Order: sequence, then C-alpha cells, then structure tokens
Amino acid sequence: MFTDQTFLVTGGTRGIGKATVQALIERGANVAFTYQSNRVLAEQICEELGQGNNILAVEADVQDFTQAQKTIAQVKERFNQLHGVVLNAGIARDKPFYMMSEEDWDVTIQTNLKGTFNYARASVFDFIKQKYGRIVCVSSVSAMKGVLGQVNYSTTKAGQIGFIKSLAKEVSKFGITVNAVAPGFIATDMWNDIPDDRKAKILGEIPLGRAGEASEVADAICFLLQSNYITGSVIAVDGGILI
Ligand code: NAI
Repeated sequence: MFTDQTFLVTGGTRGIGKATVQALIERGANVAFTYQSNRVLAEQICEELGQGNNILAVEADVQDFTQAQKTIAQVKERFNQLHGVVLNAGIARDKPFYMMSEEDWDVTIQTNLKGTFNYARASVFDFIKQKYGRIVCVSSVSAMKGVLGQVNYSTTKAGQIGFIKSLAKEVSKFGITVNAVAPGFIATDMWNDIPDDRKAKILGEIPLGRAGEASEVADAICFLLQSNYITGSVIAVDGGILI
C-alpha cells in the first residue's frame, strides 16, 4: 500500500506510536520515528520491526522546534523524501484542577500542542513544494468529552482538532490533507497508569466493553494516510464511548 513512501511518527517507541511504526512497515513504507532518550529501546525496535534499511530512529524532544527541523532533515537525507507525519507523541499529567501545578499545565501544552506545531511546521514547506503531504494528529476523545482530572490534557487535545481544521483549509490547494484520530481508552502504558477502580468505571461506559488495542488506532491512522479525499476530519477509535 505504501511502497516507496516515507512517514515520520513522533514518539514511536511504545504504545500507539510503536503500533503505527509496525503497521506502516507491514504496509511497505519506509518509517522514521522519534524517541525521547532511550536509545537502546529505539535500536531494539529498529531490529524488531525493520526490514533491511527501511527504518530510522531519531532522538528528539518533541517540545523543541530546532530538533524537529533537524529530524526532518535527517529523514530526507536517509529516504530522500517525506510523504507524511503522524503527530503521536503526547503525555498526560492528570490531576484535579485545584491541585494542577503550573508545571503540569506547561509541560502538557508544550509536549502535546507545541509538539504538534513543531513537526507540522517543520515538514509543511516540503509538502507544499512537492504538492503532496499527509498530516495525522493523535488527539483523544478527551477533546470532545469532559474527563475528570484532564483539564490540561483535554485543552491540548481539543487544540489539536482546531489545528487540523484550520491547517487543512490552508493547505488543501497543495494536495496536503490534515486529519486526526481520537482514540478512546487504549491498552497502552497511559491506560495501565489508571487506578483499577477508575478503569472498571470507564469500561462500564464503553459500549464495546473493552479498551482498544494500539493496533486498532494504527489501522485508522494508516487509513487516513492513504486517503486522498478526507481532510479536516476526526475519526474516533473509541469503542463507542462518544455515542
Ligand atoms: P505512551 O505513553 O505509551 O507513548 C507516548 C510516546 O510519546 C512515547 O513514545 C514517549 O516517549 C513519547 N513522548 C512523550 N513525551 C515526549 C517528548 N517530550 N519528546 C518526544 N517523545 C515524547 O502513550 P500512548 O498511549 O501510546 O499515547 C500516544 C498518543 O495517543 C498520545 O498523544 C496520547 O495523548 C494519545 N492517546 C492515548 C490514549 C490511550 O488511551 N492510550 C487515548 C487517547 C489518546
């Protein structure tokens, strides 16, 4: 499906990011992914998922624009061209709002929202020049549905939805599509960090009765990356929790 195409996934060492790297490789793409600091893990993933020379790991903090620019340059140096970016890296710093520190707020905005700006901005000019590009944000149902303890996180995830809609309008004339997936509760480390009593309550609210798999989000991301006539859209991958 993606033969001769190259994609960059931010935060590709675990969870949804890793599943997306794997799904893209399985569909024939070249894949670059960023990791924050664990080089040993990143190298393991290259060995585990790569086939030949089709995978590249780049150490970069998603909060840093200069590092984003350097990452894109490295990807182009290795694979010549970049066709799409998956803006996946994200964090949650859940707390009741009255206990949320300025640092909890700032680091969440800086990682989830500024990180989105950094990689879209660092790649969009190349997409404009080549008259083709795919941008997919990993937002959350938390953008659309209030979630206790997630005032900071919901703000960033809702911000990503405004971001994709305005950017989609601006760059559609250059053959660039900009979309988002909004996962519900997905069985990754982020889900594992939720206390058991809260997990049980959440499961009761999911019509399909289970947390999603990271690979199920990756499938939706791949669908958006290969679609030519979808832009400015959000696909919920949430077991029906928004119904
Ligand atoms: P995870 O915690 O397993 O993985 C997050 C990835 O982002 C890791 O690879 C981490 O190293 C990377 N990352 C975090 N801060 C970074 C930084 N400053 N620089 C570079 N990389 C950084 O999380 P998960 O669950 O795979 O989440 C991925 C995305 O999906 C996030 O944007 C999250 O908000 C979103 N999401 C997850 C849901 C879930 O239930 N797991 C639900 C809805 C959305």
